[in-house]
Amino acid sequence: MRTIDRPRVAGLIERERATFRQRHTRSGQLAEQAKRSLLFGVPMNWMTRWPGDHAIYVDRAAGAHFWDVDGNEFIDLCLGDTGGMAGHAPQATVDAIARQAGKGFTLMLPNEDATWVGNEMARRFGVPYWQFTLSATDANRCAIRWAREITRRPKIVVHNWCYHGTVDETIAILENGRTVARQGNIGKPVPLDQTTRVVEINDLPGLEAALTHGDVAACLFEPALTNIGIVLPDAGYHAAVRELCTRYGALLIIDETHTISAGPGGCTKAWGLDPDFVTIGKTLGAGIASGAYGMTERVRQMVYEHTDSKNADVGGIGGTLAGNALSLAAMRATLGQVMTDEAFEQMIALGERFEQGVRGVIDSRWLPWHAVRLGCRVEYLFRPEVASNGAEAAAGQDERLDPYIHLYLLNRGILMTPFHNMALMSPATTVADVDRHTQVYAGMADELIGA
Ligand SMILES: Cc1ncc(COP(=O)(O)O)c(C=O)c1O
Repeated sequence: MRTIDRPRVAGLIERERATFRQRHTRSGQLAEQAKRSLLFGVPMNWMTRWPGDHAIYVDRAAGAHFWDVDGNEFIDLCLGDTGGMAGHAPQATVDAIARQAGKGFTLMLPNEDATWVGNEMARRFGVPYWQFTLSATDANRCAIRWAREITRRPKIVVHNWCYHGTVDETIAILENGRTVARQGNIGKPVPLDQTTRVVEINDLPGLEAALTHGDVAACLFEPALTNIGIVLPDAGYHAAVRELCTRYGALLIIDETHTISAGPGGCTKAWGLDPDFVTIGKTLGAGIASGAYGMTERVRQMVYEHTDSKNADVGGIGGTLAGNALSLAAMRATLGQVMTDEAFEQMIALGERFEQGVRGVIDSRWLPWHAVRLGCRVEYLFRPEVASNGAEAAAGQDERLDPYIHLYLLNRGILMTPFHNMALMSPATTVADVDRHTQVYAGMADELIGA
């Protein structure tokens, strides 16, 4: 297996940076102007993570492509880190939003769309009762609060190297067997071991040890890790997680925000999981702020037993704009007409093609890397073997190769997510888009090895 020549990577990055500057003069000017009024020079702090000297400024997006203010066209494999997984501006959603916009955005009253979406979520994920939020973060926050209220227990368990949004309890990590705040955790309210236990995915004895204390309200898990590359569960892992949660009286929250890539009902449907809560956001309304959490009949009963209706508006669950008419119109159109069962078949087939293309490049160049796929989501990791837990996947990140590959692709019209190496297929992504990536990826690999 080949070793990567590090000084060569440094030189290639410098060359790509120069190309980036040439291709993005207008974006560069706008980025300079933004520094005067925006913290960090960007509307949201993560936007400083893009490769190149600054984020590129977008003119417009349609389907799986977008165009920047310098006139460059891109194939978008990042798709708003799943927010745009339905493709940009899908016509059915645009039409529904336009129709609803003319009839009012938000009233804090229900309309028929809410029931339609609730039914559709129940069909897809198999849990019958739903509530809406404006983000996946908030769906997770609400599910955790209910779990604590129902069980009267303080703690939650999460996977090492998970990400579930800006939920205080989840921004934790395992360090020498101890739960501590994750590096970069801003303004944590309390030390993380007071709220949280972190276990590795696929470590059932570790999970049992975390649950035996009898103080865990809920396990909040992605079915597969997707925020440190993809780490898939071992065969039988989820059945055992379910059994342990039941045995020790903890509720099981499955976060499908990213793993919906596995199919129309996420991994819950595709793998026959049996959670107490399902949470999701991002793609539900094609990127219009929307999120949801659903629960089983058993949990609904417990929720009702613990509900103080008189104080529902100040109990820490909900939000004034949650379940607003615009968001629900977007969800109904997106679920009903864009992210359909048929669309997923096509997206997953493209995911397979993408994975094969990447694997072909890696194998033929003897690169010490591998590719992993979850439905229409694919990642490449910088280690030869598949990672079986978060720590192994974290060790497969590479601070030099990441920016090189992202910049190389960007300079040739392909956008990957800025964090690790994720590519996502939308209903609008084409075989030509995927093959173009394979071709550019091969060129990148050849430059890297000096072929
Ligand atoms: C699995 C998972 N859950 C929840 C979230 C939070 O989503 P949002 O930032 O839209 O609230 C994320 C964000 O990346 C995520 O990856």
